Amino acid sequence: MEMLFDFAPEISTASYIVASLLFIMSLAGLSRHETSKGGIVYGISGMVLALATTGLLTVSNGWGDPAAQVGLIFLLVGLVIGASIGLWRAKVVEMTGMPELIALLHSFVGLAAVFIGWNGALYDVETPEALKGVHHAEVFIGVFIGAVTFTGSIVAYLKLSAKISSKPLMLPGKNFLNVGALVGFVAFTVWYVITPELWILIAVTALALALGWHLVASIGGGDMPVVVSMLNSYSGWAAAAAGFLLSNDLLIVTGALVGSSGAYLSYIMCKAMNRSFISVIAGGFGIEAPSAKDEELGEYRELDAASVAELLKNASSVVITPGYGMAVAQAQYPVAELAAKLRERGISVRFGIHPVAGRLPGHMNVLLAEAKVPYDIVDEMDEINDELANTSVVLVIGANDTVNPAAAEDPSSPIAGMPVLRVWEAENVVVFKRSMASGYAGVQNPLFFRENAAMLFGDAKERVEDILKAL
Ligand code: TAP
Repeated sequence: MEMLFDFAPEISTASYIVASLLFIMSLAGLSRHETSKGGIVYGISGMVLALATTGLLTVSNGWGDPAAQVGLIFLLVGLVIGASIGLWRAKVVEMTGMPELIALLHSFVGLAAVFIGWNGALYDVETPEALKGVHHAEVFIGVFIGAVTFTGSIVAYLKLSAKISSKPLMLPGKNFLNVGALVGFVAFTVWYVITPELWILIAVTALALALGWHLVASIGGGDMPVVVSMLNSYSGWAAAAAGFLLSNDLLIVTGALVGSSGAYLSYIMCKAMNRSFISVIAGGFGIEAPSAKDEELGEYRELDAASVAELLKNASSVVITPGYGMAVAQAQYPVAELAAKLRERGISVRFGIHPVAGRLPGHMNVLLAEAKVPYDIVDEMDEINDELANTSVVLVIGANDTVNPAAAEDPSSPIAGMPVLRVWEAENVVVFKRSMASGYAGVQNPLFFRENAAMLFGDAKERVEDILKAL
């Protein structure tokens, strides 16, 4: 044992390199369907190796020292409690609850970075005098990114779980507030590097907590997918900053991997949703308050399941566009059965998937694969959009924002410019939902009031089963 402890630093350097490689291989694996299972295995192996090595290092450092042994017991208890809660939450979480769980987990990374920063400021005994300035700057960067990530992720969690409204907060001069907070951070950092006083650290922590809260509160529901991946990126940078403070190479590498891949994912999502990347990361910078007009949209038409079955029998082509409501109702199984039944009758059936339908990337694809819908009839939005005008019936199953014509036609809409499935161009559109309530972005949908559209109210699963019976 003693011998193992003697070589602990060398062993840890080697295994941190292996763990870093495993994380890189994990990301590479996760980027394709076929290799994703392997990616998960690499990720888990890397994390087990990293934890075991950190454990070995900690034990070897504290061996024989009673004070360090107490620390070790705390570490072990924390590890067991944390791992048990993590396992339990991951087991019970519904697919629809994944984004808010992820947002909550990001908040822990942020909080940990704040604690590590504070610890680095209060108990700094090792830094040589010449490097004190660099150390102080590291503390501030770590605390700042960590605190922004912490409150930002909590607001994202509250918005995603509908505990607070997903509407954007529009404080007067909000862009000025954000820019002012950044300038304040730089000024405080310089000040702290020159004269490290505790009150400056307290002030910058409070400033960053407020900024994180304001940045995410200012972003509307429609942009939340980008915000979640952006917070993922911030949590990576927070971890990397903590790595510098703890002189832990693995944390620096892992943090940088998460930070850069999260930033790239946010960028791709912004492009797919026609959003300005800079505007979203700057808390809706430059986006003005949408005119909250509650205009009269006219009358809507209602159909029952039997008439929808009749409509489908006479259709030559059907496109199904699922959304979050299909996930809530778990309607994918009867929907798959309906598609199969219609195809047996010689009717062409295709699925049109919007990139942010549901609550996480690929949500609808996973549900449809679960219900064994053949891959070759599932199209991406760009593949199906031009065909919608030649479609007899579109069934909108629990989707709302992703089929909202206001995004394409109303420049004052909060979701203006976001690409949507142009279902209104089809001959007939049937919308399955329980009420006239708006979707995630909190925007009314003029589609429901179009002449070629009709509502089929009720739980999506029950209504699709009713149609199956009628067929
Ligand atoms: P939403 O706009 O969220 O609308 C879903 C609709 O489903 C609601 O209007 C709701 O209406 C209906 N619904 C709920 N439960 C139902 C049930 N049991 N049976 C039938 N209908 C039900 O959905 P979408 O079109 O999929 O758009 C996704 C939205 O989430 C976008 O704004 C997107 O930006 C946002 N978002 C996406 C992600 C990712 S990465 N995909 C992450 C976070 C946020 P009723 O209440 O009237 O039934």
